[in-house]
Amino acid sequence: MTDILVLYYSRHGSTRKLAELIAHGIDSVPGAQARLRTVPPVSTVCEATAPDIPADGPPYAELRDLEECAGLALGSPTRFGNMAAPVKYFLDGTVAQWLSGALTGKPACVFTATGTLHGGQETTLLSMMLPLLHHGMLIMGLPYSEKGLMTTTSGGTPYGPSHHAYVDNRGPITDDESALAMAMGRRLAQAALRLSGAHA
Ligand SMILES: Cc1cc2nc3c(=O)[nH]c(=O)nc-3n(C[C@H](O)[C@H](O)[C@H](O)COP(=O)(O)O)c2cc1C
Repeated sequence: MTDILVLYYSRHGSTRKLAELIAHGIDSVPGAQARLRTVPPVSTVCEATAPDIPADGPPYAELRDLEECAGLALGSPTRFGNMAAPVKYFLDGTVAQWLSGALTGKPACVFTATGTLHGGQETTLLSMMLPLLHHGMLIMGLPYSEKGLMTTTSGGTPYGPSHHAYVDNRGPITDDESALAMAMGRRLAQAALRLSGAHA
C-alpha cells in the first residue's frame, strides 16, 4: 500500500471534517491509504507542553511520516488570512527534510476552514503552498471539471478544498464541499501512485 499523509491542525473540528473526507477520497483509490496525523497546539506560555498522545483523534505527526508517505494533504484553519501557528511551527521543524530533499517530487495539496465566507480561504491556501514549494513538492489543486467548483455557494476552491464553518463552527459540510474534498483526496492518491511508479 502507498501511504498518503493527511496532516492537519484543528481546534474546533471544522478542518478535521475536511481531513476525514480527503482521507476517504484517498482510501477509495486501490493501492492507496490515508495516514491521518495532527499537530499539537503551540502556546504563548513557554512552559506549556502538550501530552505525548492527543486526547482524541489521530496521533501527532512525526517527521518520519513526511519521509515515509508518497504524498501530502496539509490542512489548517484560517487564522487572520493565514495558516495557524501550530502548522507553521511543525513545518519550521522540517529543515532536515528540506536539506535531504525528502519531499522533493512528491504531490501535495492544501485545505482550510474559515468562520466567514470571505475571510481568507484562498490567501490561506496560497500561503500554505509556499513552504511546500520550498520543499520541492508538486502542488495540486482542483480543476473545473469537478463540477462542484461551479455550483458551490460555500467552500471549495481551485486552490484546494475548503469549508465555510460559520463563526460558531457549526456549519454542516455542504454537498459541494464534501464532493470536492473527496475528489482532492482521490486525485492526490492517483498522482502519488503514478509518480511512485505504482498503478493508479
Ligand atoms: C486567532 C483566530 C483567527 C481567525 N481568523 C480568521 C480569518 O481570518 N477569517 C475567517 O474567516 N475566520 C477566521 N477565524 C475562524 C476560523 O478560521 C474558523 O473558526 C475555522 O473554522 C476553525 O477551524 P477548526 O474548527 O478546524 O479549528 C479565526 C479564528 C481564530 C481563533
